[in-house]
Amino acid sequence: MNKIRKASLIELPKFLDKRGNLSFIEEFNQIPFSIARSYWIYDVPGGEIRGGHAYRENEEFIVALSGSFDILIDNGEEVQRFHLNRSYYGLYIPKGLWRSMENFSTNSLALVLASTPYTPEDYIYNYTEFKKTYDKETNSL
Ligand code: TYD
Repeated sequence: MNKIRKASLIELPKFLDKRGNLSFIEEFNQIPFSIARSYWIYDVPGGEIRGGHAYRENEEFIVALSGSFDILIDNGEEVQRFHLNRSYYGLYIPKGLWRSMENFSTNSLALVLASTPYTPEDYIYNYTEFKKTYDKETNSL
């Protein structure tokens, strides 16, 4: 039986320098998956909510490269809120969790590293379906 997986904050390496700071991410090092895709969310108007869905297979790591926003993670039983506002840490989100993003600050920039190519069939957009099919023991959909 797979263990129950949870979203978790991961601190990234940080090279502080008077010329400016530097952080980085390597697959299977800072994050526990191979990066198949990167995308970013930007120019979000105040009050908008993004990403209300779950993935059957895709895992993600999200960093606030600029500004701040909240990520809400729902495991079918409880909702956790993570506030991201620094570029030297991010949120790892295993597959099978319902996630949404809100409370975007002006000029915020969300970098998302994903474990699979874009696959529309991997999405569950219906919350009732998510609740119905979510298996807490295996965290699979
Ligand atoms: P979508 O995943 O619905 O955004 P959100 O996470 O906020 O719900 O994606 C919005 C649009 O962008 C949708 O038409 C599909 C397209 N898209 C791609 O083509 N490739 C990608 O990697 C992603 C994430 C989205």
